[in-house]
This record gives sequence, structure tokens and C-alpha cells, in this order.
Amino acid sequence: MVTSIEKRYIEKHQKCQQNYSVSKDFFPNGVTHDSRNLEPFPYYVDKALGAYKWDIDGQKIIDYRGGHGALILGHCHPLVSQAVSNQLKIGTHYAASTDLEIRWANWVKKLIPCFEKIRFTSSGTEATLMAFRMVRAYSGKTKIIKFSDHFHGWHDYVRSHTAGTGGIPKEVMDTMITLPQNDIGIVEETLNNSDDIAAIIIEPTGAHMGADPVDPNFLQQLRDITNRYGVILIFDEVVTGFRISKGGAQSYYGITPDICTLAKILGGGLPAGAVTGKSEIIDMVQLSDEPDYNRVERVGHNGTFNANPLSAAAGCAALELVANSPVNEIANQRSQQLKNGLNYVLSKLEISGCASGVSSAVFLRLGVEHECDNEVCILPFDDQKKVGDPFLSHQMWLEMYNQGIDAGTRFIVNSVLSESDINKTIEASEKALINIRKEGIL
Ligand SMILES: Cc1ncc(COP(=O)(O)O)c(C=O)c1O
Repeated sequence: MVTSIEKRYIEKHQKCQQNYSVSKDFFPNGVTHDSRNLEPFPYYVDKALGAYKWDIDGQKIIDYRGGHGALILGHCHPLVSQAVSNQLKIGTHYAASTDLEIRWANWVKKLIPCFEKIRFTSSGTEATLMAFRMVRAYSGKTKIIKFSDHFHGWHDYVRSHTAGTGGIPKEVMDTMITLPQNDIGIVEETLNNSDDIAAIIIEPTGAHMGADPVDPNFLQQLRDITNRYGVILIFDEVVTGFRISKGGAQSYYGITPDICTLAKILGGGLPAGAVTGKSEIIDMVQLSDEPDYNRVERVGHNGTFNANPLSAAAGCAALELVANSPVNEIANQRSQQLKNGLNYVLSKLEISGCASGVSSAVFLRLGVEHECDNEVCILPFDDQKKVGDPFLSHQMWLEMYNQGIDAGTRFIVNSVLSESDINKTIEASEKALINIRKEGIL
């Protein structure tokens, strides 16, 4: 069924449609990242500044996709742009160690509680892959527990038991155990049934960047149980690091994992990743005097763009801003304003659902009647499954975009959004919900 929402999207985005007619012959679905897939065609952006981006049809968009979570400072922050531009003039790659990487590590040390040592990678996917190598090498054990729907990148291990497992060997999948989140009983039973479990990895605010929230008590229970069983606890802070608080979810909840993975904000908008935490685990990369150890026990790690000077320059500038200015506080205030406004709209229109989420990640969850605390709103399993109705979410994405908002039902809030941007977003959401209701979808 082609809705009038979709028809409006097509009318307003003729140049995007023309681009798609070309790009679909280059790229599967015409896109270069699964989450940029959009029917009837994706939008193409050619400029961004601060809280906004502009598509090739000239539409100004308030951006809540925030570089997939990397841009808590918005687009082209002057200090980050200046740092990158200065670095461009003096070299983008020295194939050598740099003073910059020491400064970058030092910013992470200042902010992230579990920091003892660090290894930089080029992305979050590489960071979780490296974390798995380290914990397996360190513990001599093979299996890793992850939680249903938690996203940790796209390498074979983390994609096991999710959608899109084509090409992943069964032997690899067999090394991963996937459990429901928020159920410590099942975790304990699993640990009791196997002495081959190296680690547990979790998105500390919950699946899908926190859209399906983890109970903070569960995090503490995981910390306690992993200590008791001698299993390594990994927080995947690729999204939450430097966002949920300056020191990530571990600082926000006061629960320190053994190691954590970082990316996104770490690189100030340029490609970056890292694993940090206990020295004895990170030091699995360290060369020893023993050739046999180096051959079969040590974790080897190359990577042409590890700690590359451009990402390091952007990362230092971004982390300095996070450390020394109220970036997180402003993003949190804007998120609170947004949650309040969206919840008001839902009650005014008598639509069941809520706007909730921790710190600067806000989720609009439609179609479920429940009590909500606007923050860690945990729904019963069956209700959570109802929330992500793909058709409704798709129509919401298109209709919000028609009104100049790139969000759909997930808002990644940055610190350069103004109060007036948030008010416009709330108004647009009201219109979008009314239009969706007119279609008989809600
Ligand atoms: C929690 C989490 N871990 C890992 C990743 C993978 O990071 P990257 O896309 O940089 O490979 C992502 C990406 O969205 C993520 O959200």
C-alpha cells in the first residue's frame, strides 16, 4: 500500500529519487549501510552544519541520527574542524607512533573509569572483535555470552543468532551464547553449565542503543556474578561512551567492567575505535621475550589506520570538549525537553506509548499501554515486541522527514540543538502522528 505520506515523500524528494535510480545499480538497495535503507528510496545529503543537514533537494533537516551516534557536538564543531584542518596540513599518516595518540589515550584515561591501558582500532566493529580476541587469549576459554538484539557491530561473532547471518560458519556461531537480557537466573544457569565461558558482553543501556532497556540492577548483578565466576565483563560503550555521561554508562551507573569498547564520539566524527580496561587483558597484545608465547598466545594486531593522526586530532578535540564543557548536560536537558514534549503529544492525541531513554538517547515507543518513568522504561517481553512495528516505524520516519526531521522513532540528541529545534521537533511529531492516524495505521 502506497500511503499519502509516501507520496508526499516522493514529491518532495525528486532529486533523491533520481540519485537512487543510479545508486541502486552500484550498491545493494542503493545504500552503503544497512540502517540507511529506506523505501521507496533513501535521501542523499550534501551538506551539514551544527544541528542541521541539507539534502540534495534543498530540504533543511534537524538531524537526530547524529552520524549514527558519533556527533554529540553536532556537525562541523569549529574546534574539531580546526584540529582536523591543522592536522591535514602536516600529514595524515606517518606509519609511526605519535604524540597525538598519547594525548588521545590520556583523554580516555581522564574520562573512562575502567581505563588502565588502551588499544586503538578503526571502528566499533574492530573494537568488539579485538575485545573478543583479548578475552579468549587471556582466559584460555572460547565462549562468549551476548544478549538478544544487542548490537556490537557486524563481524561474525557478534552477528551470530541475529538477522543477516549469511556466510557465518556454524562453528563460529557455536562459540556464542545468546541470552535474554534482564534475567540473571538464566545467566547463572548458563555459567553453571559450562566452564568454557570467557566473557559476557552487553550494551549497558540495552538493545538497539537502549530502545529495549537494560535494568541497571541487572548490570550490577552481572558485575557480581562475573566476579564470582571469574568471567570477564565487557561493556560495549561504542554508543554510550562519552554520551550517557562523560565517563559513559560505567560512570553513570557506578559499575566498572573489566574492559570496554569505544568508538563513535571517541573519534570526534572521524573513524575510530578502542578497547580499554584492565592492563593484564589489554596486554595480551604485548610482545614477550618468549617466541613460543608470541606465536600461539599473544594477540597480534595490525591495522593501517589504528590511531591515525586525523582521527586522533578530531578525537582529542572532541574529548577535551566533553571533559571541560557542559556538552552532556546540554544534550541531556534537550532530551528531557523532548521527552516531556513527546509524552504531552501522546497524551493529547490519546495515543498509547511513551518517550523514554537514558540521557541523550530518546525513543518513541508507540502502541503499548503502560506506566513509564521516562527513562529506563522496561516493558514486558510481549509488549516490547509490539513496539517496533516495522510499517508504523517506517511511516513515522518518512513523515518526520517530510517535515524536516531525521529521526523516526529514535532521537540521538546532540548538544548544539536549541530549545527552538526541540519545540519544532515536538510540533512535527504531533503533525506526523495525526497524519499517520489519518492513514488508519495508528
Ligand atoms: C553498541 C555498538 N557496538 C558496536 C558498533 C559497531 O561500531 P562501528 O559501526 O563503528 O563498526 C555499534 C554501531 O552502531 C554499536 O551501536
